[in-house]
Amino acid sequence: MASTRGEFSSRFGFVMAAAGSAVGLGNIWGFPTQAASNGGAAFLLVYLILAFTLAYPALMAELIIGRHAHANAVNALRLISTGPATHKIGTTVGVIGFIVAGMILSFYAIVAGWMISFCLASLAEFFGMQAVADWLTSFGMTRNLFFMLIFLVLTVGIISEGVREGIERWSARLMPLLLVSLILLVLYVCTLDGAMEGLKVYLLPDFERALSPKLIIAALGSAFFSLSLGVGTMLIYGSYISDEENLPVVGGLVTTVDIMIAVIAGFLVLPAMYVALHNGVEIFTASGALISEDTLIFTVLPELFATMGLAGIVVSFIFFFLMSIAALTSSISMLEVPVAYTIEEHGLSRKTAVYGIGCAIAVFSATILVNFETLFGLVIAFTTRYSQPILGFMFCVYAGWVWQRDKVLKEVQKGSPQVEHTLFWKIWPWYVKLVCPVVILAIFAQSLWGG
Ligand code: PFF
Repeated sequence: MASTRGEFSSRFGFVMAAAGSAVGLGNIWGFPTQAASNGGAAFLLVYLILAFTLAYPALMAELIIGRHAHANAVNALRLISTGPATHKIGTTVGVIGFIVAGMILSFYAIVAGWMISFCLASLAEFFGMQAVADWLTSFGMTRNLFFMLIFLVLTVGIISEGVREGIERWSARLMPLLLVSLILLVLYVCTLDGAMEGLKVYLLPDFERALSPKLIIAALGSAFFSLSLGVGTMLIYGSYISDEENLPVVGGLVTTVDIMIAVIAGFLVLPAMYVALHNGVEIFTASGALISEDTLIFTVLPELFATMGLAGIVVSFIFFFLMSIAALTSSISMLEVPVAYTIEEHGLSRKTAVYGIGCAIAVFSATILVNFETLFGLVIAFTTRYSQPILGFMFCVYAGWVWQRDKVLKEVQKGSPQVEHTLFWKIWPWYVKLVCPVVILAIFAQSLWGG
């Protein structure tokens, strides 16, 4: 089977693709807004610690299992199973994983559609078509459906081209573009009045807040969502890495790029918020909480851009263009999860699998839009708050408890013969066996009972 599967052609290609999956709305929208409402620098500090000490080990579990099996999550978990019970549980985890990946894509496509419509609205405004710009930025069923579909068509188009021609080629093109435009935007926003205030909030930690359980749990959830953990995305990308590749190093690179982009996005969004405040836009309630946390980007930032005249239109275009790209390199990784399973398990051609699953996700997305008030928040909570932590927990259990340690070592040694003597091997097996499952369970328990 391995010979007919796609494979990334180079380390750069893989890192761009996996970082492309990791870097998305979670980094540029989720992380900075979470940081803004959880004490800025305190959140940044905890996020950095947790991302390296917990999310990185969990990412490695998925990459190693995936590379070992060179197969989708269902087959990969079956392969390392040791008896009928772990075989059955592995199948269930893999199947739930791809369903959850599809559900994440269905709400992600809606939000990403808004990014595209806001991006086009800046163009419309630039050319003086105010009525069109107003339509593009106001919440309406036709607009929502139309742009969700456009986004899904782009995602389906890339995934139908396969691993090298689709995922790798587009990620390697779009990711550097994203990084460059993000840095240019940061440099620009930091020159504006009020930006310094935002930088101070972002960089001077209040250590007391860093110890609050609410902050720690928010930072952990953010790190796991941000690294695309739990639904088998990183496992399937791991399955496309060649056996010669040094997994701890490439995993470390992906984690570093992901964290770096989140941190850079913080340098954009926090100063931008304070520039907006300086320009008279309200961003905090009387009690000091952030207004419209979830829709910050669609309310506060456009208001900020509006105060900047013509430059604001250009900046707004670049910003929403960037968000659309970031969302696209993540959405292709979500779609690849059910597609790989369907191809490998049921022998369908890639095109048939992609179009069929793409249509099913479009129908589900449309259902969410039609029942927006009830379903949107519910699907996000079900997938990111509950399913991702439980599935992430199961991947760690498989890597730490079900799979024998010497076999794991053999897999890692393929691309890194000296790994046994490295710090990675001294720490990781224990982390993934004990620390990761316990902490993930703690987050889950907190999200269920802690409110
Ligand atoms: N990591 C993506 C982000 O930060 O936006 C979200 C994501 C991608 C979650 C892929 C899950 C997934 F399978």
